[in-house]
Amino acid sequence: MNNYYFDNAATSWPKPESVYKSAENQMRNMFGNPGRSGHTRTLDADRLLYKTREALAKLFNVKDPARIVFTLNATDSLNIALKGFLTKGSHVINTAMDHNSVLRPLGRLIKDGIITTSTIPCSKTGVPDLGVLESSYIPETKLLIINHASNVTGTIAPLEDMISSAHRHNVKVLVDAAQTAGTRNINVEETGIDMLAFTGHKGLLGPTGTGGLYVKPGIDLKPLREGGTGSQSELDIHPESMPERLEAGTMNSSGLAGLSEGVNYILETGIDNIINHEHQLREYLLKKIIDLPGVNIFGPSAEDESSCIISITIDNADCGEIGYILESNYKILCRTGLHCAPLAHKAIGTFPEGTIRFSPGVFTQKENIDYLVDALKEILNMINN
Ligand SMILES: Cc1ncc(COP(=O)(O)O)c(C=O)c1O
Repeated sequence: MNNYYFDNAATSWPKPESVYKSAENQMRNMFGNPGRSGHTRTLDADRLLYKTREALAKLFNVKDPARIVFTLNATDSLNIALKGFLTKGSHVINTAMDHNSVLRPLGRLIKDGIITTSTIPCSKTGVPDLGVLESSYIPETKLLIINHASNVTGTIAPLEDMISSAHRHNVKVLVDAAQTAGTRNINVEETGIDMLAFTGHKGLLGPTGTGGLYVKPGIDLKPLREGGTGSQSELDIHPESMPERLEAGTMNSSGLAGLSEGVNYILETGIDNIINHEHQLREYLLKKIIDLPGVNIFGPSAEDESSCIISITIDNADCGEIGYILESNYKILCRTGLHCAPLAHKAIGTFPEGTIRFSPGVFTQKENIDYLVDALKEILNMINN
């Protein structure tokens, strides 16, 4: 199968071969229920989970791997963080680039009368207004949510500046790293991130159904789920120690076995090499389409730092229809519409139609981009003649 897959921001494909093999090997050979029984298959599964936590801790520079809990995906991590941290009367600051996995839990907490929020506006290229951020803190502000990279434009938020701003005001920081885990350098200890929500199936190259949340020591989240952990079974309430505190029920061991190999692949390849490869692909694509008549490009310019996302519209054409033609005529897979981030489209001026989004990945080659550009040229000819 040719790699005409330009939807890595939704989920990455292909995965490294070791990811497929490891997930299968877990199911076939390391199948015990981690933390539950004392037999060898369980101990193997235990070790596998610990190895995955350690690999993630290494990638994000987290001192204590036990502060990373496994979740279903970034949405799950964000829900655990928001609903476990915020209490009645809390004020939250977020930005217009946020994904619905932030906006909707916040919306629920607002509707239930628990929190209030201030949403920082963003520029046409998706950069949050730091002046507005500075004037948004009130005594009740407990949390700043940072969208590390936009899934609509690829814009990278000024992470360090935003974290120091929040910490100057004694406010904790939750980073949504759904689009950056595995594709940008994230150094938890150095930047002082309080909570980091990530997903396993995008840049970390793991299977779907995997993700995680880092929680800084000193932050005790109220668990969303309670139940069996295999540890301290005599207690009538859920254990308070991490990671069990936020992990109830049987883990997705085969998914996490795959994730472990995805993270190892990234550690072996080197994040800087991944950033460099993806930067070149994005620049190459943008330079080839910038002068095409009728094509409008959104987000940072080709030279700017950005995650590997290119969002466009085409004059006199419906985004969904272009996506349909790309797949049916050329087998090219991309994403069209609002990408679960309505406020981001309002900020960049593409609401409610949305954009056509191309997201090359670590395994995309320049020849794949050439094929995409040729297809776009043919479609433009069709529209304009
Ligand atoms: C910025 C951002 N946050 C959160 C999510 C949610 O990730 P998941 O679907 O893995 O929960 C996504 C997914 O596209 C995203 O792009």
